[in-house]
Amino acid sequence: MKRHQITRACLFIGALFGATPGWSADAGELAGSICMACHGEGGNSVVPNFPKLSGQHATYLEKQLNEFLSGKRRNDVMAPILDSFSKQDVPALAAWYAAQKPTPGTVGDPGLLAAGKAIYEDGNVETGVPGCMGCHQPRAQGNARYPRLAGQHQAYTLQQMNDFKSGVRDNDKGKVMRAVAERMTEQEMQAVAEYMASLQ
Ligand code: HEC
Ligand code: HEC
Repeated sequence: MKRHQITRACLFIGALFGATPGWSADAGELAGSICMACHGEGGNSVVPNFPKLSGQHATYLEKQLNEFLSGKRRNDVMAPILDSFSKQDVPALAAWYAAQKPTPGTVGDPGLLAAGKAIYEDGNVETGVPGCMGCHQPRAQGNARYPRLAGQHQAYTLQQMNDFKSGVRDNDKGKVMRAVAERMTEQEMQAVAEYMASLQ
């Protein structure tokens, strides 16, 4: 039996005897025992390649977790931990991370911020890159339909942009992000990643 399964069994027994455990406590325990190793305390990862999950919208987190489980989104680092949670855990895990307070990002190269802001807001008319703002919202805060990108690690953002561009990541419905990324240069991706990291 895995540690969180034992906890769940205890919670279940507790519930039978009138205690008031909740799925939220269970999700916090699962996050703390398994996910924290990479995604950090409260989802505030400190490793540039591991995404921050704190304050991300629950709808987006649910979609990603279900798609990792179904194999629609694939990643070698996430793969070995996919047997530590199931579809039943997904809504509570998503709600738990959505409720955590995100820490601000760190700007690496302030010289890229102006170019990044221009792409974020207006895109590149010549090459047909749309502005990101129309979907991801003016300060990259996202909403129930589009993920939050503010304060995210540049390295993770850049990896996702390149994965959309090459098609390694293809779980974006209607190819929305692949169509954006395939028109972008590496320099544009770097600049916009830097700008989004600077937003809160
Ligand atoms: C061994 C390290 C590791 C562990 C442990 C881990 N993850 Fe991840 N996780 C990653 C990496 C790396 C990615 C980025 C995958 C990619 O590039 O597609 C990721 C991506 C994600 C994403 C997608 C984020 C986004 O912005 O699209 C979610 C959601 C997620 N993990 C949730 C979890 C949960 C919940 C747990 C615990 C049950 C967990 N992870 C455990 C490494 C880990
Ligand atoms: C037409 C709407 C739309 C536009 C315009 C758009 N995006 Fe997205 N973006 C999405 C959607 C939808 C997703 C979620 C895909 C999924 O469900 O996996 C997404 C996901 C992403 C992700 C992955 C987030 C994560 O946590 O893994 C990044 C990074 C991103 N977008 C960056 C950008 C950038 C940079 C721009 C502007 C150059 C942009 N997007 C423009 C709709 C859009």
